[in-house]
Amino acid sequence: MRTHYCGAVTAADIDTVITLCGWAHRRRDHGGVIFIDLRDRDGTVQVVIDPDTPEAFRVAEEVRNEFVLKVVGRVRRRPAGTENPNLPTGEVEVLTQALEVLNPSATPPFLLDDENLSENVRLTYRYLDLRRPVMQGHMRLRYRVAKLMRDYLDAHGFMEIETPMLTRSTPEGARDYLVPSRVHDGMFYALPQSPQLFKQLLMVSGFDRYFQIVKCFRDEDLRADRQPEFTQVDIETSFLDEEGIMGLVEGMIRQVFKAAIDVDLPDPFPRMSFAEAMDRYGSDKPDLRVSLVLTELTDIMKDVDFKVFSGPANAANGRVAALLVPGGGELSRGEIDACTEFVKIYGAKGLAWIKVNELAKGREGLQSPIVKNLHDAAIAAILGRTGAKDGDLIFFGADRAKVVNDALGALRAKVGHEKGHTVNAWRPLWVVDFPMFEYNEDENRWDALHHPFTAPKPGHEELLTSDPGRALSRAYDMVLNGWEVGGGSVRIHREAMQEKVFGALNIGPEEQRNKFGFLLDALQYGAPPHGGLAFGLDRLVALMAGAESIRDVIAFPKTQRANDLMTQAPNQVDERQLRELHIRLRNPPAAQG
Ligand code: AMO
Ligand code: AMP
Repeated sequence: MRTHYCGAVTAADIDTVITLCGWAHRRRDHGGVIFIDLRDRDGTVQVVIDPDTPEAFRVAEEVRNEFVLKVVGRVRRRPAGTENPNLPTGEVEVLTQALEVLNPSATPPFLLDDENLSENVRLTYRYLDLRRPVMQGHMRLRYRVAKLMRDYLDAHGFMEIETPMLTRSTPEGARDYLVPSRVHDGMFYALPQSPQLFKQLLMVSGFDRYFQIVKCFRDEDLRADRQPEFTQVDIETSFLDEEGIMGLVEGMIRQVFKAAIDVDLPDPFPRMSFAEAMDRYGSDKPDLRVSLVLTELTDIMKDVDFKVFSGPANAANGRVAALLVPGGGELSRGEIDACTEFVKIYGAKGLAWIKVNELAKGREGLQSPIVKNLHDAAIAAILGRTGAKDGDLIFFGADRAKVVNDALGALRAKVGHEKGHTVNAWRPLWVVDFPMFEYNEDENRWDALHHPFTAPKPGHEELLTSDPGRALSRAYDMVLNGWEVGGGSVRIHREAMQEKVFGALNIGPEEQRNKFGFLLDALQYGAPPHGGLAFGLDRLVALMAGAESIRDVIAFPKTQRANDLMTQAPNQVDERQLRELHIRLRNPPAAQG
C-alpha cells in the first residue's frame, strides 16, 4: 500500500512521488492550505494539501486527529525558514496529489502529545497510549535489547529452551499464582515464579548452556519495579564457577548497553560484599550515583544516657548509624519533619539529627534535639567518624538493624537525589558474599536469602548447621543505579548438600521428598557443577529508557492492584466453569453486594 514510512522521508526523496500510510497526528488549516502531520511507527512527516487538488482538499477538510490516511504526493523542500530541525523529516514536506481516508477515528479520549496523562486513562486505552512516539520508542528498545541478548548468548553457545508454564511451585519467595486442574479434582498447577528447577534439570540433561526469555509470575506487593507477570532473561551454565558466569553475563550487559544506547559501562564492574553494602548504604542494591554513606555508631552508643540509642546499641540485632548530609544545615525544620515522616514508612520511630553550625565551638556549635543526652566522647566520635564540617547535617537511625538499614538507606537515596549529591552516570556493581539465610522473625525460622538451591561458599558448609546466620553463599546480584537488575548463584549439585540446606531451612525429609523429590533424584544421576542467573528484562529496559516504572516498557502491564484496566482482568467467571474446576466460592460476587 505504501512506498515509504513517514518517519523515513528525507531530502534524498525530493521530487519523488511517494505513497504513505499513517495516522493524522495533527491537522492545521492555514486558510487555503491544510497541513497534516502524518505519523507512523517511524515518525511523522508534514503533508501539504492545497486547493489545486480539490478532490484531496475536500477529503482533508474532513480529517480529524487519528484518522487513518493514505497519501500520494511529491516530496519537496520546505520553504526557507519553515524547516523543523527537531524532526528527522524536518527539511521536507509532501505535496499531496491524492488523499484517502482508510478509516476515520472517534475523538480520542486524550491528546497523544499531552505530557500529563493519568496512568489509569493510559492503561484503559493502552492501544492508543502505545501509539505515542515515546511508547513506540520504548517497545522498540525492548525488542532491540532482547534481540541483542539473544545474539550474544547464541554467539556464546547458549540454546533457548522452553520450560512449562503449568507446573508446580518453585520457591522464589513470593506467593504463587495457582491454576485449578479440571482433570484432577482439588489439584492445582502453579505458574512458575521462575524456571529455576527446570533449568537446573536441563544442566543435568547435559545441555551445558541454556537461556530463555521467559514470563515469570509472582503474586507479591507491586511497586514501580515489580509486576505480577514480568520477563526474565534466564541463564544457566555447566562447568563454570561464579567468576566465569559473572564475566560472561557482565560482557553481555556491556555489549547491549553499547549497541542499544551507546553507553560504555565500566570494565570490570566493581564488586561489593553484602556486608559492606548494608553497612555503608543500608541496602543490598546501593545506588552508587549517590555519594552519601552511612556511618556505624553502634559500638559508641552502648553507654550513653539516651535510651533511644543505647537500647538498640546493646540489643543483639540492633544498630545505631548516622547519615551525613554535607551542606544539610540549610534544611528547614519543615524539610527535616518531612524526612522524619518519610523514614516512618520503613518502620523508624523517629529521626534524630544534629546540625553542625560551628565545630570550633564544641557542643555550643551544634544544634540538635539530642546532644544534651550524649556524653563528650560520643559526640566526638560522631563528628570524627562522619567527618562532619560546618554547615553539615547528621541524621541518626537507632532500631533493629533491618529498620535502620531500610530507613537510612531509603533516606540516603531520597536526600541524595533531592539535594544533588549525585553523579549523572551509569554505576553498575556486583553485590557478592550474601548470607545463605536470613532470619524470619515473624515465623521464627531461617529463610533462604536467594533460593534454597544456592550453594554455600567453600568452607562455610559446617556453618549451615552450627551458625546458619554466618554462612555465606555463592550468590551474586547485579545492581544498576539502585535497581537489582539480575541475580543468580552457583547451585548445589550434590544431593547430600541439598538435603543439608533443606534441613537448615527446616524442610524435613518427608517434605523434601514431597516437594523436591524429582530434584533430589536428578542430583543422584551425575549432575554437573552448574550455576547461572536471571536478569529482569523489564527493569533493564526501563533503566535504559529512563522510564520511572517498568509499566512503561511493558506493552500491556497491570496496575499496582494487579488489574488490567483495558481487558478488565481479573474478572468473574460462569458458575459452569467453576463447577468444571470443582470450585465453590467462599464469597460469591452476588453475596459481596
Ligand atoms: P530473582 O528472584 O532474583 O532470581 O529474579 C531475577 C530478576 O528478575 C527481576 N524480578 C522482577 N522484575 C519485575 N517484577 C517482579 N515481580 C520481579 N521479580 C524479580 C529482578 C531480579 O533480579 N531463579 C532466580 C535466578 C537464578 O538464581 O538464576 C530468580 O528468579 O531484576
Ligand atoms: P524523643 O526522645 O522521643 O523526644 O526523641 C528525640 C529525638 O530522637 C527526636 O528527634 C526523634 O525523632 C529521635 N528519635 C526517636 N526515636 C528514634 C529512633 N529509633 N531512631 C532515630 N531517632 C529517633
